[in-house]
Amino acid sequence: MEILQFNRMRVAFSAVAFSMMLAAPAAVTAQDAPASHMVVNLDTPGPVINRHIYGHFAEHLGHGIYGGFWVEDGAGGWRLNKPVVEALRKIKPANVRWPGGCFADVYHWKDGVGPRAERPTIVNTLWGGVTENNSFGTHEFMELVTALDSEPIVVGNVGSGTVKEMSDWWEYLNHPGPSPMADLRAKNGRAEPWNVRFFGVGNESWGCGGNMDAEYYADVYKRFATYLHRYGDLQPFRVATGPYHSEEMMKWTEVMMRDAGHMIDGLDLHYYTVVGTWQEKGSAVDFEEADWIQGIRKGLVIDEAIKAQAAIMDRYDPEKRVWLIVGEWGMWHDVEPGTNPGFLRQQSTLRDAMVAALSLNAFNRHADRVKMANIAQTVNVLQAMILTQGDELIVTPTYHVFEMFKGHQDATLLPVVLDEGAYNYGETTIPALNASASINDEGRVLVTIANFDPHSGRTVEVSLRGGTLSQVSGRILTADAMTAHNTFDDPDNVAPAPFGGASLMDDHLVVKLPPKALVALELE
Ligand code: AHR
Repeated sequence: MEILQFNRMRVAFSAVAFSMMLAAPAAVTAQDAPASHMVVNLDTPGPVINRHIYGHFAEHLGHGIYGGFWVEDGAGGWRLNKPVVEALRKIKPANVRWPGGCFADVYHWKDGVGPRAERPTIVNTLWGGVTENNSFGTHEFMELVTALDSEPIVVGNVGSGTVKEMSDWWEYLNHPGPSPMADLRAKNGRAEPWNVRFFGVGNESWGCGGNMDAEYYADVYKRFATYLHRYGDLQPFRVATGPYHSEEMMKWTEVMMRDAGHMIDGLDLHYYTVVGTWQEKGSAVDFEEADWIQGIRKGLVIDEAIKAQAAIMDRYDPEKRVWLIVGEWGMWHDVEPGTNPGFLRQQSTLRDAMVAALSLNAFNRHADRVKMANIAQTVNVLQAMILTQGDELIVTPTYHVFEMFKGHQDATLLPVVLDEGAYNYGETTIPALNASASINDEGRVLVTIANFDPHSGRTVEVSLRGGTLSQVSGRILTADAMTAHNTFDDPDNVAPAPFGGASLMDDHLVVKLPPKALVALELE
């Protein structure tokens, strides 16, 4: 009703805004905080938000591949999991990073090509000690990304592989033929090269990828990267291992940019949001408000991580040629009780959705340097989009965030000035609001805005400067409980709904955000 009264004082307002208000009034709480102000500058566009920010990660880990993307076909063989592929296509997965992760540096790609019955079996010592039958290899990964309409990112084995092995894989993927590896590819059923441009030269080479120090890895990197040759128009996009975000690892980026920067196209930063400690991370679903605010506080560190990396990269690469890639990010909780500890299966609640939203907002806002990111991981592992159980699947609140944000892909960033307000709990204070905005080629503006405060709604008075917009529509992701999540019994417990709390009048947008809510507004 408040919104209606506010608008009655105005001379005219759009029919769409009016119908939205009638359709679904926003929940307004008794303890609403004072209004916040936000400016969206429509006439000073920023860089393009690279669609590769909306990327994914599929490691040979737990049921990410086997039982996730790749399932038994009932006739003794394996096939792509079509319902998983169909669900993911709806969120426009820009890319998929494979085969790891730590697994990349133990993976020998020739184990995964040729007739499936003849492929060797190995033990996945990294993740659960299970048998890996190699039925999902290079051809199957390419089948997956083709079905998803995604771009492949292949990560080569530096830690336990050789330069020749990596260079052969590159040739197998991309040489038009004739060549030894192109001939082998053709013999295995694929004559045409796949033209895979994104190639990782190892993963976490400071840890599971070989425990190297920065100077040593910089040399190793240059040696391996030298043998990723250009074939015709196909130029390799070489991704170097970046640091894990921490004070101690700032030197890593400095050394890589100084010693190998001229041969690096993308530097792969990793950062996980862990609420507790690495030993006791905390439950994914059974938590209190103290864990809610800590999760979001630690999630917000992604913004500092990007700024710290960008500051170093700017010194060596002021033209911003080298992409900062956030190649692994997301919440990492204790595993789901009763599951294999090596499989990293966890649920995803509204809290995970908030961390996904603030991370994607941060990547958007830093679109001048961050050009690619991969949430860890896509199916059944860590902060997944999809959880499977036999033939069934559910999508998580995090999936919905990717769907609500998909309009940012390849749109142009619109700078936003936001009075974020504050949300306090105990000794901890964090910003209450978090947002980003973009405009696409058709002039449609997308504003994604989150209110982290689980108690107070927030009114945001938005000034849309330097342009003319006349219609607004929106969707909201929220739930009664901070711990709300989807289950196989209740798969739509957390799902987007139409949002009726936005009204537009000339260049003035008023958004009434309920507590603990994420809203995606489209304006035209
Ligand atoms: O995503 C799980 C693991 O986390 C990856 O294998 C590794 O790169 C990171 O440490």
